[in-house]
Amino acid sequence: MDKIKLLLGDAINELKKIEENSIDLIIADPPYNLSKNYKATNDNMEFDEFINFSRSWLSESKRVLKPGGTIYVFMGMRLISYTHMIMEKELGLEFQNWITWHYTQGLGKKKNFSSRHDDILMFTKPGAKPTFNLDDIRVPQKYYRSINNMRGANPGNVWQFSHVHYSQSSRQPHPTQKPEGVMERMILSSSNENEVVLDPFSGSGTTVFVAKHTNRKAIGIDIEPSFIQETRERLDEQFNGFDSIDERMLRVPNDLNKKEIRKEYFKNHIEWFLKNHEKSLDSFIKEFIKKYDLKIDQDEREYIINISKKYNVKTKSKKKNVENHSISLF
Ligand SMILES: C[S@@+](CC[C@H](N)C(=O)[O-])C[C@H]1O[C@@H](n2cnc3c(N)ncnc32)[C@H](O)[C@@H]1O
Repeated sequence: MDKIKLLLGDAINELKKIEENSIDLIIADPPYNLSKNYKATNDNMEFDEFINFSRSWLSESKRVLKPGGTIYVFMGMRLISYTHMIMEKELGLEFQNWITWHYTQGLGKKKNFSSRHDDILMFTKPGAKPTFNLDDIRVPQKYYRSINNMRGANPGNVWQFSHVHYSQSSRQPHPTQKPEGVMERMILSSSNENEVVLDPFSGSGTTVFVAKHTNRKAIGIDIEPSFIQETRERLDEQFNGFDSIDERMLRVPNDLNKKEIRKEYFKNHIEWFLKNHEKSLDSFIKEFIKKYDLKIDQDEREYIINISKKYNVKTKSKKKNVENHSISLF
């Protein structure tokens, strides 16, 4: 198949045309039935209609998923328990996780508590061992300890990523664009390179964009022509790192006291945790230098500068390179 396929149409109809057991990973971010204006649809069904719609697209999704394949489903808190019931009890999918996506900004309510999370169900299709690439999605440890796995820790099931802000260049016109970092974690953990990722409600194309830049194949479906066009344009944009990151990825562990360990850690951190997040290299390096400033000798400084150069690290001013940076910080 083509590396990226965009299909304009209704998710259920388009899923019906896809061969059974052919998809490795599904990421579905359907309408939450909250009356959002998605142009072609108004996201406002009667309860029974919504449940039947969910049942139909989830059942088609199960059919196209390979045995052992994973499906992630975003849903608002008022309807997620029904989605869970359909997936587990009616369709016999295997429950893996209930993930909370915690965001720090959002609408301020006056009558009760403001919403600060969306939830994501993670299920797998029975019949084969699911893929779970833990090493590809670990987060840095807080401390260097010989008992700690310095490859990093499991990120857990509460994921903190901010919404894509209107001022960010990656912000699309779509009303409910999700952060790329959330999709990145799902794709890296639950699929391998060259496998097929499907998003039946692809919107602005976040899933297909992340799939493209993590070397997966992808199929995106959306019923609104302008969102498909928005995705096409997004896919043509130059890639310079994903638009969001789990803040823990920037964490510099304490107690990296031995020079050789520190040097190795510095290089590993960039390659493991900041891959595809070039925009965050600068703050990580600054933080590292700040924390270990008094311990670093000339030789180690040069090592850090050389690695930083290799990754073309720029300071925020964009004019200074790491050597200028070293003047102020060393
Ligand atoms: C929550 S949004 C997806 C946002 C997307 N994850 C992103 O990051 O941009 C849901 C999308 O489902 C689409 N949609 C609604 N009903 C649909 C249907 N029956 N078939 C396919 N797409 C549909 C809407 O046009 C909307 O773009």
